[in-house]
Amino acid sequence: MLAMAPAVTWGYAGVSPSWEECRGVAMVMTQQYLTGELSVILGEIQAAAATEACVRQAWDLRLEVESAPVTALPSVAARALALINGLCWESLARGDTTTFARQAAICAELYEFGVCAHLLDEELTREHRLPGGDFREEARQMAENTEGQVPEPRDEEISEAQIAVHWREEEYFSPSARFIGQANASDPAIFERFAEDKFPECFREYADLLTWDSYWHTTLDTSNAPFWKWFVGGRLNACYNCVDRHLATDRNKAALIWVPEPESADPVTITYQELYRRVNEFAALLRDFCGLRAGDRVTLHMPMVPELPVVMLTCARLGVIHSQVFGGFSGGACGHRIADSGSQVLITMDGYYRSGELTDHKVKADEAIHTARQEGQEVGKVLVWRRHPGQYASKTPMAEGRDFFVDELLTRYRDQVVAPVSMPAEAPLFIMYSSGTTGRPKGCQHSTGGYLAYVAGTSRYYQDIHRDDTYWCMADIGWITGHSYIVYGPLALGTTSVIYEGVPNYPDAGRPWRIAERLGVTIFHTSPTAIRMLRKVGPEEPKKYSYHFKHMTTVGEPIEPEVWRWYHSVVGKGEAVIVDTWWQTENGGFLGSTLPALQPMKPGSCGPGVLGIYPVIRDEDGNEVKAGSGKAGNICIRNPWPGVFQTVWGDPDRYLDTYYRKYCKNPDSTDWRDWPYFANDGAVQAADGYYRILGRVDDVINVAGHRLGTKEIESAALTVEEIAEAAAVPVVDELRGRVVEMYVSLKPGVTPSKEIEGKVDTAIETEIGKIARPKTVWIVADMPKTRSGKIMRRVIASVSNFTDVGDVSTLANPEIVDEIRHHVQAQKAARGEVPRELTAEEAAEIKAFGQTE
Ligand code: WTA
Repeated sequence: MLAMAPAVTWGYAGVSPSWEECRGVAMVMTQQYLTGELSVILGEIQAAAATEACVRQAWDLRLEVESAPVTALPSVAARALALINGLCWESLARGDTTTFARQAAICAELYEFGVCAHLLDEELTREHRLPGGDFREEARQMAENTEGQVPEPRDEEISEAQIAVHWREEEYFSPSARFIGQANASDPAIFERFAEDKFPECFREYADLLTWDSYWHTTLDTSNAPFWKWFVGGRLNACYNCVDRHLATDRNKAALIWVPEPESADPVTITYQELYRRVNEFAALLRDFCGLRAGDRVTLHMPMVPELPVVMLTCARLGVIHSQVFGGFSGGACGHRIADSGSQVLITMDGYYRSGELTDHKVKADEAIHTARQEGQEVGKVLVWRRHPGQYASKTPMAEGRDFFVDELLTRYRDQVVAPVSMPAEAPLFIMYSSGTTGRPKGCQHSTGGYLAYVAGTSRYYQDIHRDDTYWCMADIGWITGHSYIVYGPLALGTTSVIYEGVPNYPDAGRPWRIAERLGVTIFHTSPTAIRMLRKVGPEEPKKYSYHFKHMTTVGEPIEPEVWRWYHSVVGKGEAVIVDTWWQTENGGFLGSTLPALQPMKPGSCGPGVLGIYPVIRDEDGNEVKAGSGKAGNICIRNPWPGVFQTVWGDPDRYLDTYYRKYCKNPDSTDWRDWPYFANDGAVQAADGYYRILGRVDDVINVAGHRLGTKEIESAALTVEEIAEAAAVPVVDELRGRVVEMYVSLKPGVTPSKEIEGKVDTAIETEIGKIARPKTVWIVADMPKTRSGKIMRRVIASVSNFTDVGDVSTLANPEIVDEIRHHVQAQKAARGEVPRELTAEEAAEIKAFGQTE
């Protein structure tokens, strides 16, 4: 393979006009190829080395290669050969024949390399001149330019602090004057109003955005800390606030615009008046046909159709607690949640469009009911919406007396009006189970008054939603993002919220931008995963469409600065502000972000705590980790806020244990200052007060006692031009405890090569340090992902460690797991890299890696 490379480049060079030139081009290419190849072989030597001293020698040689002229390559190769030769004999002496075989193979590779390098060198010494200059000098310069900066050798000892700050400080980006001029929050006096000494009364400003049936007497009741109660004594109805109250001024304005996935179907507009009619009729149905009352729970398992917000708002109208399970989840997953919440009614749909297919969704209802029954919960009624009313899209039979078509039932409730039930502010509005594929799901219970106030306030100031905006959050309503920032926040503010049924790249990567253009979307909101994916499959697509966003959001994961910049310059056309919003299912709304007209953006950092949120980073012993120290720690919120969940449904101990016990010094205290909220995320705070979220505390790889944020490593890999997605996972290692293995997928049209692997290696070494150098870079066709698009690092980590990958049935692409496993494990076995059997703790750690529960 190696020996063929010069021949290939010679052949390629043959297309150039003159023989001299061809030869010159071929030589430059060969030189580059050989430099890259030697670097890769040295990387293999490092990986195969048994001692740190040997790793260091190989590393030094690698540095030399980067800057060596071609004439020096044979000599470097000879020294590398001596090094690996010595290792070979040591392995043989130890009786480790597998390692010996692998090292011997590297020797052979090197020998072949030496021959090629010599040949090239001979050619070069014949002193051929190219038109316009000395070829050797040109070759050298070209090689230097294309190889980029030679990394400085780093000190052997790298402190944790140094590693934490290795993610280069990024430049600031400012909002345009045009954006500032129209922003809801453009007067810095707002920071004063939300200053810490104004807590908790500052949040009246958010609550005052709502219409209350009766005003509250206590803004924050801490008597049963940390089970916080907000706006106690106040009463309101969430549906009234999102629908009825807008009728007076905006009756015929679009509340929702629904975009079906099939592009042949036109978008459907639902005005506030129409929404009002639908929630009233459905409320009559839920009340009279299902007998539901305030405080009852109902499970929803619905896709991205307007009927979903209709159902949620209807429940809110009656004070019924809804629990929407993400439509992509399996029937079994839905069944556990039915049982946990004690729902007697399930609301679902027969099917929906996804990637061009009309899926059979109703079949999951039968599985869900079966699972719930096994857990002791009977479901009396299943309400089935039909994607095309009047036509049943599922092959699953309707169970007589249990399953009902909603479109048929609704005819009985035409034009009925049901008064909104006035609910106490602290009554639960909904339960949202936190994401993850294993472990018992946690039902995060959210309140009516505090939650609605918080999402309305943050939608107004951080999303900058105005009544006349067309706002599109391309997330699923089945996640907290959709609840807060597709349904409750935007509708409470009386704006127009767009709902899209399908996948972003159906039928192609231009779809989101066509929707934006057609509907005149002004605010766009999505996840880093979607941004990465759209960047991967259609980097030039946004340029083809004439939409104009004033504002864009990212949420859900850390976003790599590279990706952020594409979002800003290509999707946002350099005009839109970006808010990177850090928060969680548990939180109801944003915790960390920039106030778009008043605080500059910084790629890769979410920003400071949002208005009224006072975060702190603590180490394991509870000491504060100061801003600018460069150290990572556990991010906590020192104060409660109105959007925070009230408890884990049915499991208050888990609520206490997971979020509050760790940093509470006095469990009897009723002072909120004694109960910081532990977010279970790692973070670093820069001197400017901006936080960089490193991911869940378990998303950390501990290499030789150094905590490395997977996101930092991945971000470094993403600076390599050819890389589309990257995931770093830990592999149990005898010498260093854990080492990093890197999985990358490439942009379309890029062919996998050792050169790319070498580039990833170099990027990580350069950006973070050799401590983070991956043991192997695996180029894969795709990453295993959840239905919400998060990369399942747990699954990849299990492959790398030869442990059980666990249940992958809820993944979006389960088939990729076997493909990756065969590829990776076969190669590892061939290289003698099958790890010893893991201890129970190690196996548990791998299994939990990157899990969000
Ligand atoms: C991560 C999604 C970095 C974090 C709203 C958190 C983020 C978890 C960001 C919650 C962000 C969320 N930057 N990381 N902007 N937003 N995360 O519950 O680890 O699905 O704890 O809520 O996602 O995920 P969840």
